[in-house]
Amino acid sequence: MIRIGVTGTDTGVGKTVVSCALAAGLRRAGLRVAALKPVETGVAFDDPARDGARLSRAAGGILPLVETAPITLPDPVAPLVAARACGAPIDLGFLDDVVRAAESKTDALIVEGAGGLLVPVTQSLAYDDLFERWRLEVVLVAANRLGVINHTRLTLAHLRRRGLTLRALVLNQLDAAPDRSARDNAALLAEVEGVHVVETPHLESADDFDSLSDQLLPHVFPELEFAGGPLARR
Ligand SMILES: Nc1ncnc2c1ncn2[C@@H]1O[C@H](COP(=O)(O)OP(=O)(O)OP(=O)(O)O)[C@@H](O)[C@H]1O
Ligand SMILES: [Mg+2]
Repeated sequence: MIRIGVTGTDTGVGKTVVSCALAAGLRRAGLRVAALKPVETGVAFDDPARDGARLSRAAGGILPLVETAPITLPDPVAPLVAARACGAPIDLGFLDDVVRAAESKTDALIVEGAGGLLVPVTQSLAYDDLFERWRLEVVLVAANRLGVINHTRLTLAHLRRRGLTLRALVLNQLDAAPDRSARDNAALLAEVEGVHVVETPHLESADDFDSLSDQLLPHVFPELEFAGGPLARR
């Protein structure tokens, strides 16, 4: 069973795009995939552009939206704050059940966080705790721009402190016009952190996952079988 938690150095850095590319690639390789957004804030349940809907489509729709994105809260703020605004705390037992049900139906579980690793979900738990609780290996997504070195190093330091396993560090070319730092960020992070860095390009259409998954999967899942680089299409 593949178990991945996708987090970011910040909100809006490409977690959903990367999660969708991983889900679509694994599905193309013949695996049954669940891609979950356990708590999504700032959206309406039936918004087709919401993360839960994008993840569900990329994973092939094995799970209905209500199981892909089981807790939807209207306020565009951190889960703990959005839940408080509704007067209903996040029910961890319910989320555990959703994760268990998803893994019982699939070969690969991809869980997208909200914002970064230390965003609180309840007063005492953040996404690092959930990733540990659900035994997820971490894919860390960061925007390839000035400032990413510090944000990434802080997150990596925390992952190590918590004993969470880093599966991949993805430097995502979010901006169409990269700043000067974008040329050197990957090499510098690899040098100072001793980790492998996967770079993803700026996409014309962020819904075109095929080329992105071809680039990502050999780095994120080197143990899976590949035919001449790109994952064999089945
Ligand atoms: N490589 C890329 N090329 C072009 N656009 C991108 C790329 N990566 C992300 N985007 C766009 O940037 C925006 C933010 O990306 P995404 O929704 O994946 O971020 P996120 O980290 O999941 O955000 P959130 O914290 O809200 O969940 C989206 O509009 C997405 O389509
Ligand atoms: Mg997202």
